[in-house]
Amino acid sequence: MTADLPGRAAIVTGGAKGIGRAMVEALARAGATVGAFDVDEAALADLGRADAGAGRILPVVCDVADRDAVFAATDRFVGEAGGLDILAANAVRFHFAPLVEMPPDIVRQMLAVGIEGAIWSIQAATPHLEARGGGLVVTMSSVAVFYGIRNAGVYSAIKGAMDALTRQQAVELGPKNIRVVALAPGPVETPGSRSVIDDAGFEARRQRTPLGRLATAEEIAAALVWLASDAARSMTGVTLRIDGGITIAAP
Ligand SMILES: NC(=O)c1ccc[n+]([C@@H]2O[C@H](COP(=O)([O-])OP(=O)(O)OC[C@H]3O[C@@H](n4cnc5c(N)ncnc54)[C@H](O)[C@@H]3O)[C@@H](O)[C@H]2O)c1
Repeated sequence: MTADLPGRAAIVTGGAKGIGRAMVEALARAGATVGAFDVDEAALADLGRADAGAGRILPVVCDVADRDAVFAATDRFVGEAGGLDILAANAVRFHFAPLVEMPPDIVRQMLAVGIEGAIWSIQAATPHLEARGGGLVVTMSSVAVFYGIRNAGVYSAIKGAMDALTRQQAVELGPKNIRVVALAPGPVETPGSRSVIDDAGFEARRQRTPLGRLATAEEIAAALVWLASDAARSMTGVTLRIDGGITIAAP
C-alpha cells in the first residue's frame, strides 16, 4: 500500500468502531498519525491490534458531546502528533423510532453527539489546521438526507445539519485553505447501522442499489484518504455520495 499521507496528523471522532475505525486504519496505513476519539473504551483498547502500517494510531477516550473534553483531547493529541491536518467528525448515536415516540433524553443525546459534537470538534480543530497553513474537515452526511426513511427523523435531521454546516464552513474556512467536505454513505454494515436495520432491511437496500451491493466501511474510508490527498485540493463544500447509486435509482 502506498503511503500517501506521510507526516500528516488526523483526528477521527467515533474512531473505535464501524466507518470511523476503518478511517483510522486507512489513514494510518497511508502514513498518518491518527487520534481515534471515542467513548467505547473496550473498542479503543482493541485498536491496539489494528494494522497501523507506516503510521501510528493513538486511541483517545473522549466524549464529543463534552466541549471541554474535546478541546482538551484535541490539544493533547496535537502536542503528541506535532500538528493537525485532518479532522473527520464522524461520531454518531443511532436510534430509529417514530418521531412522536422518541424519548426526549435520547433525542438530546443524539443531537449532542451528532450536531454539537461535530461543532465542538471543528471549533477545537480549526486553529490547529490554520496553524499548519490549511487542512481538511470531513463531516458525515447520509443518503437519509436525500430520501425519507421511516423512523429515521432525528437521525436524518442531524445528517441534514451536517450538509448545511459543511457548505457554510467551506465558505468560512476556504480563505484559510481549509477544505470542508461531507461524505454521504449509503447503507454500510457497522455496529451502529446493525442496531437499527435487520437482515431483511439490508437485503432490501441491496436490491434497490444499482450496483447490486452495499458499500463497505473500507470504501468510505478510502474516499477520506483521497480527499486528504493533494489530488482533491480543489474539492470543498460538496456532499459526496458513496451509495452504489441508491439515491438516483427509481423505485
Ligand atoms: N453505517 C451506515 O449505514 C451509515 C450510512 C450513512 C452515514 N453514516 C454515518 O457514518 C458515521 C459512522 O457511522 P457508523 O455506522 O460507523 O456508526 P457506529 O455506531 O458503528 O460507530 C460510531 C462510533 O461513534 C462512537 N461514539 C458514540 N457516541 C460517541 C461520543 N459521545 N463521543 C465519541 N464517540 C462516540 C461509538 O462508540 C462508535 O465507535 C456516522 O456519522 C453515520 O451517521 C453511516
